[in-house]
Amino acid sequence: MAKRVFSAALLGCAALALAACNASKNESLSAGASLDDAEKASETLLKTGGNGDDWGAIGFSYDEQRFSPLKDIDASNVGQLGIAWTADLDDARGQEATPVVVDGVMYVSHAWSKVSAWDAATGKLLWKFDPKVPGERAVHACCDVVNRGVAVWGDKLFVGALDGRLIALDKKTGTEVWSTQTFDAERPYTITGAPRVVKDMVLIGNGGAEFGVRGYVTAYDADTGKERWRFYTAPNPNKEKDGAASDDIFASKANATWSDKGEWQTSGGGGTVWDAIVYDKDLDQIYLGVGNGNPWNHGTRSNGQGDNWFLSSVVALDASTGAYKWHYQETPAETWDYTATQPIILAEQQVDGKPVKVLYHAPKNGFFFTIDRATGRLIDAKPFVDGINWATGYDLKTGRPIENPEARFYKTGKPFIAIPGALGAHNWHPMSFNPATGLVYIPAQQIPQAYLNDMTELDKRKIVGFNVGTSLTGTLLPDDKAAFRAAVAATTGRLVAFDPRTGKVAWSVAHPAAWNGGTMTTAGNLVFQGTSTGRFRAYAADTGKQLLDLDMQSGIVSAPSTFRVGGVQYVAFMTSKGGAFPLVAGVAGGVTRKVPNIPRLVVLKIGGTAKLPAPPASTTLAWNPPPQFGTAAQVAAGKAHFGRYCIVCHGDSAIGNGFTPDLRVSGTLANADAWKGVVLDGMLKDRGMVSFAKVLTPADAEALRAYVIDRSNWTKANLPDAAAPVGR
Ligand code: HEC
Repeated sequence: MAKRVFSAALLGCAALALAACNASKNESLSAGASLDDAEKASETLLKTGGNGDDWGAIGFSYDEQRFSPLKDIDASNVGQLGIAWTADLDDARGQEATPVVVDGVMYVSHAWSKVSAWDAATGKLLWKFDPKVPGERAVHACCDVVNRGVAVWGDKLFVGALDGRLIALDKKTGTEVWSTQTFDAERPYTITGAPRVVKDMVLIGNGGAEFGVRGYVTAYDADTGKERWRFYTAPNPNKEKDGAASDDIFASKANATWSDKGEWQTSGGGGTVWDAIVYDKDLDQIYLGVGNGNPWNHGTRSNGQGDNWFLSSVVALDASTGAYKWHYQETPAETWDYTATQPIILAEQQVDGKPVKVLYHAPKNGFFFTIDRATGRLIDAKPFVDGINWATGYDLKTGRPIENPEARFYKTGKPFIAIPGALGAHNWHPMSFNPATGLVYIPAQQIPQAYLNDMTELDKRKIVGFNVGTSLTGTLLPDDKAAFRAAVAATTGRLVAFDPRTGKVAWSVAHPAAWNGGTMTTAGNLVFQGTSTGRFRAYAADTGKQLLDLDMQSGIVSAPSTFRVGGVQYVAFMTSKGGAFPLVAGVAGGVTRKVPNIPRLVVLKIGGTAKLPAPPASTTLAWNPPPQFGTAAQVAAGKAHFGRYCIVCHGDSAIGNGFTPDLRVSGTLANADAWKGVVLDGMLKDRGMVSFAKVLTPADAEALRAYVIDRSNWTKANLPDAAAPVGR
């Protein structure tokens, strides 16, 4: 690290005596300062954020506040935002990345871990990079083949590929400089998160806790890709040493929080770090947001015993060595897929009249946490959504939740409909913090979910598919129109402006559907957000008054960024529905079902006059289900297999959400051989639809076909509008 700051300073201050330059320049730099070229290529941009011309990292700067000091766009003119340029993208899969802009060049990652670079003002494509991820890897991705962004550092740029490669590219040309495989490709790991660069190291985690892996984060040398340190977030299967930075804390404390009996020993325990990895420049430490356990069910995972460190925790590590400093476990003995992977924001807040360095966190479990960064002490935990029913609050003395005993379904033996469910009161969609208002803008949502303990033989661990230890089949919606409608009504979204100083919601805006885009906020007193229903909006940051509402043709899940080139402020984001919710939502996706899914980069400026390409013609899909066949037992078997293997990509009751093909109108339905060709022979494997021959027999495939035909007929007869098939 010293090396890079030194050489950057040398370049930038060639005319000055080196020592004086180092002292004067680096110490005088603060947020909002203009940076010269060399400083932009160094960590100075990430430490200060610069003057807002650049958006140097997905979260803007190391603090990851997603707050821009720019105020050329404000309440007086935001209503005149129009399109500067757009670019249609290759794959109609989720686009979740935040565009990074340095020196007028925009770098952004896409579905299938592709990367592109653009002239940020004109939209001229500079280069594209395709890591050629094998299509079959998609079956190991719980939540679509997405990527949440790149990290830019010096003359390089880093991206994590779905298949586990961490790849360094030349920033100018997009050619590969080095590539390192970060996990055992035989295990169901993936990477969807953005790398972070800290002290000349690139940090990356992984995903896979639905399937069965052991989470960890690794730091690699930014120049060579060589490993510097690794920290495991779940125990070694034999509670032995790994030769990793995590060894000491597991031996001294963490191993004891895992039962010696439990499925974690074969599954890996989960605890993957698939999104938040944040560097604290003030305290020189790193925070990891750690994921759920595997299996979800604490009863089978750890025999119902122990808190299972570091699942659902924020873990602080020494930046240089990866050594453990402290952790705070938001959901001890996690059993509902309540990840703590959600984005982490660093800020300073007055607590008892004194300024305290805090971190803000709004994880899946529905509570907003304010934590003292120096010690890990819980300062406050308050709900940011209504209706939470797994806990009534937190005991601030012990830092532990006050749980509803009914919520532990594996203890009561009774199903529990939890709010929030596994998709969370807040998922990965980035939140933002505005220092001027003191508010945090959270893309929140309400998606209840049933958890059941009673597992059939089919729910047991398999080498393909989710292994969560709670029956997903049991959560499939019943043959009941009212239940379908209730599910739609219960699933909503909300932009929440949360005030950490009071622990209360300052203002909020209701959205008709869940899974809306991430937020970004500016010194122009604005908050920007795209919605899953295809709108791009701006609100006054202090009051929530809506100031802009543009039709974007497509659902939006990503977060915007903003930057300035040639004195003009721009706002950039990607459209596309993407991610877990559209895959599984089915009819509960409500109005989003009919919103198109268009992968596109969009850049706005005041007075922009470009037009979106013509929207796709709305086609009514022919809906002529083949006649039902098979016995009731066969259809029931098909339902069980569907819940086990297919629902996560093809939607509840096979009702598609315009994202993967709606199986109820597939041409293969009428033809047993064509169906088997896809489901067992892997005809579409390169496109992300693998063969399930490892877990399904030809008879199982035929039962699945009988079930999907049954659902097609039932929904056509009972929910002809709400469940009408939509194209993708
Ligand atoms: C990891 C996600 C995923 C899972 C799990 C999955 N599919 Fe698919 N499936 C896809 C995608 C993506 C496509 C579309 C591929 C393409 O673009 O041609 C597809 C296509 C299909 C098609 C062809 C539809 C058509 O008309 O083009 C059939 C049939 C199908 N899937 C059946 C199933 C069944 C049955 C299961 C469960 C055993 C299943 N799928 C599980 C992702 C998935």
